[in-house]
Formats: sequence, structure tokens, C-alpha cells
Amino acid sequence: MKRHQQQFFATIFTLLFFSGLVNAQSKASIIIHTQEGQHTISRHIYGHFAEHLGRCIYGGFYVGDNNTKIKNTNGVRNDVIDALIKLKVPNLRWPGGCFADTYHWKDGVGPKEKRPTIVNTWWGGVTEDNSFGTHDFLDMCERIGAEPYLSANVGSGTVQEVADWVQYTNFDGVSPMSDWRRANGREKPWNVKYWGVGNETWGCGGNMTAEYYANIYRQYATFMNGKLFRIASGANSGDYHWTEVLMRDIPHWMLEGVALHHYSVIDWNKKGSATAFSEKEYFTTLQRAWKMEELVTRHSIIMDKYDPQKKVALVVDEWGGWYDVEPGTNPGFLFQQNTMRDAMIAGMTLNIFNNHADRVKMANLAQTINVLQAVILTDEEKMILTPTYHVMEMYNVHQDATLLPIRLQSPDYTLEQEKLPAVSASASVNASGLVHISLVNIDARSAQEITIDLTGKKFSAVSGRILQSAKLQDFNSFDKPDRIQPRIFSEARLKDNTVTLKIPPFSVVVLELR
Ligand code: AHR
Repeated sequence: MKRHQQQFFATIFTLLFFSGLVNAQSKASIIIHTQEGQHTISRHIYGHFAEHLGRCIYGGFYVGDNNTKIKNTNGVRNDVIDALIKLKVPNLRWPGGCFADTYHWKDGVGPKEKRPTIVNTWWGGVTEDNSFGTHDFLDMCERIGAEPYLSANVGSGTVQEVADWVQYTNFDGVSPMSDWRRANGREKPWNVKYWGVGNETWGCGGNMTAEYYANIYRQYATFMNGKLFRIASGANSGDYHWTEVLMRDIPHWMLEGVALHHYSVIDWNKKGSATAFSEKEYFTTLQRAWKMEELVTRHSIIMDKYDPQKKVALVVDEWGGWYDVEPGTNPGFLFQQNTMRDAMIAGMTLNIFNNHADRVKMANLAQTINVLQAVILTDEEKMILTPTYHVMEMYNVHQDATLLPIRLQSPDYTLEQEKLPAVSASASVNASGLVHISLVNIDARSAQEITIDLTGKKFSAVSGRILQSAKLQDFNSFDKPDRIQPRIFSEARLKDNTVTLKIPPFSVVVLELR
């Protein structure tokens, strides 16, 4: 071939490559040190979030005590409880979100017919009848086996109100609040450990400055008695000043966690459809999700400066994809479908959290049912599990296991001259010595050949499960509820402690080695 011909073909290839029509060789390599684990992946990283928003609580969890159409126990759907038990939900955050800073818990206890109504000013302006309250939520958490995480009202409440809530839920002796709890039918306290002190206090929770909120936090935390895990309302994505001020100005003996919120949204003014999206929109969403790696790293560096022993947890108590609501639904209800794109967000984000388990001790996907990146969708008596549910269920093998150090070299997933690492991974070893490796290939077109070298212990067998679908835009619907669900993955080979596999485009694989 003559030189000018070579140049011509090289130019054509470069153009095709950057247009995404041709991909470079896609081979990833991973080294896992199976006997060098130090940190536990807290099961609380796999937490969820239930707000009085749209059909999350009403219609999602709770269908009313007298509902004869939908099977329930004390008004809470049995199908939902079963699905959440299977998911191994470690903790559930409630009652918000923005709603939490308008919520007065005393309105939601005692005889239901006597409870006052309020207007849910943040979400659709609907009337909230307070029929689902503290007892309903805490009893429901007991059924699910999840630890409750109560988000206390700082924005429009009082210190006394929060102190009373702690006494109501946690005090075993004689006191005004514990006596009231008993009168309302609950003898023993629930012993709620996790408490959020306000939500998004930089925004819907009061539009405060970090400096002002740090003082408010100190005041509230002082009157929250008992052995609690108190979580300060944290930064909005990359607001590093916020974390700096909280870590600097709040004494660490009264601070167990600092929150962080980050949503994968293309553009707050033009979020795009949850199901009808282009590859470009997909790529941008995944860029936003990948940002979590930088956020967690940089917020952790600030926390390390003030807390080198890592006693204060980073709690990512709101994360997930956020799109336009489904056509024809109430814009204030944030109801969106859930596709393979969401499975990619979930798999990638959970790998990030696992790999930062030394600092990220808790996280909450927003939100559990019928809102944002939900794991469950309901329509009257019908209920479906979303691709995100399946990823979280596949990943629950990592809960409370020991994180294994991993070295990953990934090819890029490129689109229009922008790139992201195509493969993300994390690994852990559990109490029985089983090693689990979760792998995500976000590349929309190319499969990835992956070689995993395991050092340390000798392994004799590998098995796995995969979540994949024909199209990125595929989702489970009420007509086709099982279109996307995990399948057995038997294509991984193990020889001389090296695993080789080919992972299809936009898929999630979890391997088990014994
Ligand atoms: O999850 C929906 C909303 O997003 C929450 O109420 C709020 O905290 C955040 O802005």
C-alpha cells in the first residue's frame, strides 16, 4: 500500500472510531488480591429511600388498612414486603427528602381518623392525610428486616420536636413520649439508630449556608439523646466547601455521618425521556453517574484531613438517575420507567461505593417504589421489579463482606471523542470464603474480553449470573414483567487461578469463585 493510501485509510478509521462505528480491541484485565482485604463493605451501602412523594408511600408501600383488593398486612402490600426481603434491604430512609422538612411526626401517630391533614407543598400540592406515620413505618421496617433511618425536620420544625421523636421511638422507661407510644399500641421501643439532621439544608431544607447549618446541627444533635448515628445534611454533588465546613466546625463526638447527594441527570432543564433516549443521552447519563467516583474521592480527601481515622462516615443518602416523568403523569410525582441504562448506573455506582468502603458506609438509592430510579413499580394490584432491582439483588452478595483490592485496566467506551472506562468492577470475600466479583460493561456496542488474575488463595470453580437485554432502552412493563431478569452465566472459564470471560455490551455479571 502506498503511503498516501495508508494515510487515507488511517484517517477513515480514525473518523469511524471517533464516530463510534468502529471500536478498538476491547480487552480488560483485572488483578484481585484475594488475601489482602482490609475493609468491610457495609451492608448499609445497599440502602433505600422512601419519601411521601407521588406514589412511593401511598399506592407503593401503603394501600390503606381497609383495602380488600390488594393483599396487605396493616395496609402495607405483602408483595412489596416479600420483594424487599429478597432484596436484603439493610436500611430505609423516611419520610423524605424535601418532604421531611415539612413533616411534623406528631400528626402521624394516634387514631387515624383524628390525624390532621397537611399539604405536600414540595410534591404535587396533594393533601397528605398522615395515615402512614411513625408506627406504620417502623413496624414495616421490622417486617422487611431493614434498619429505619429517620430524617428529622430541621427546616420547619423545632429542636424539641426532634428530641421528642427520639424519646418516642427509643425510650424504654417512663416519660411523656414513651407513655404516649405505649398508649398508641407499642410497648417496646424500636431503638432507631440512624437519624438525619435535616435534608438538603442548602436548598429545600432551609436555604442555609454551610456555616449557619453547622451551628444548627450542633444545637439539634445536642438534644438527640442515646447512642445514635447522626447524619448531617450533606453537600450537593461537588460542593466541597460544604463538607469542609461541616468537618471543621462540628465536633466529631456529635457527628457520625456526613451526607452527599448526587443524581445522574443530563440537564436539570431538559432531563430527557426515561425510555426513548439516544446513545448520546445514554453516554451523558453514564458520564454523570461516573462523576460519583470523583465526588466520593474528593469529599473523602476533605474528610481525611479532619478525620484521618475515618470515624465519620460518608453517607450518599440520595443517588440515582433522574429523567422526565412518564407522559401523562403528574410532574410533581417523579414517576419514571427503568431501563438497562438504569441497570448500568446501579452496577457502576455500587462498584464505586464498594471500592470506597473505607469511607462510604451508607447509601440510599432514590427511591424505592414508583419514584425516580425505583426498584419496584406498582399499578393498583400489579407489581413489577425493575432492572435496577435485579442489579441490587445480584450485588447483595457483597453486603458485609470484605472488600478485596482490585487493579483494573479497562478499554474506553468512546462516543463523539468523549470517553469513559467501559468496564467497572469490585470484589469481596464473604465469611464462608466465597469470592464475588461484580462486573459492568457500559459500552453500548462492544463486548469486552476480561481476564481476571487472582492472587493468594487457590480457586477450583466459577459460576455466575448475568443481566442483559437486546436493547438499551428495554424495560420491564406490567404486560411483560419478566422481560429483563438475571440468568445463569456459564461462559466464565477458570484455569490456573485466572478467569476469562466475555461480557456482552451493556450488561452486568456477578461471578462467584470457590
Ligand atoms: O428524591 C427527590 C428529591 O430530591 C428529594 O426530596 C430531595 O432531597 C432531592 O432534591
